[in-house]
Amino acid sequence: MNLKICIALLSLVAAGTVYAETPAELLNGYAGEAARSAPDFAPSVERGKSFFARKWGVSSKMPNCQSCHGGNLTQEGKHVITGKRIAPLSPLANTKRFTSSAKVEKWFKRNCNDVVGRECTAAEKADLIKFFNNPGVKS
Ligand code: HEC
Repeated sequence: MNLKICIALLSLVAAGTVYAETPAELLNGYAGEAARSAPDFAPSVERGKSFFARKWGVSSKMPNCQSCHGGNLTQEGKHVITGKRIAPLSPLANTKRFTSSAKVEKWFKRNCNDVVGRECTAAEKADLIKFFNNPGVKS
C-alpha cells in the first residue's frame, strides 16, 4: 500500500469517521466470522431465503421475517403491529440498506430475538444478506 493511502486510512480511523459501508463488506464480515468455526462456510441464497420465510413458532403475531418485510424484498413491507410502511429490504431497491453495521446489528438483534427467539448467528446473517442481494422473483 502506498504511504499516502496508508496515512489517509489511518486518519480516517483516528477521526472515528463513520463512512458508509457496503452490503458486500458486511456480507464478507459475517461470512469471515462464520468461517472461523466452519472453514467451508459459503453464504447461500437458498438458505437465506428459507430462513426468511420459515415460521419459527415463537411469536404468533410475527411468525416469520416476512410478517413485516413481506414476501417481495424489492417492495415495501408493512409493520404487522404498527401498520407503518417499511422501505424495501433489498439493496437492489433501496441503496440505504446494509450501509451501516451499527444499524444492521441493531435490527438483526431485535428482529431475530422477536421472530426466532434468539440472536441470529454470523452464518445466518451472511445467508440472509446474500439472499437480500439476490431476492429473485416474487415468492
Ligand atoms: C415486527 C416487524 C418486523 C419483523 C417481524 C422483522 N423486521 Fe426487520 N425491520 C423492521 C423494522 C421496523 C426495521 C427498521 C426500519 C427500516 O429499516 O426500514 C427493520 C430493519 C431490518 C434490518 C435493517 C437493514 C438495514 O440495513 O437497514 C434488517 C437486517 C432486518 N430488519 C432483518 C430482519 C430479519 C432477518 C427478520 C426475521 C428474523 C426481520 N427483520 C423481521 C421490522 C421487522
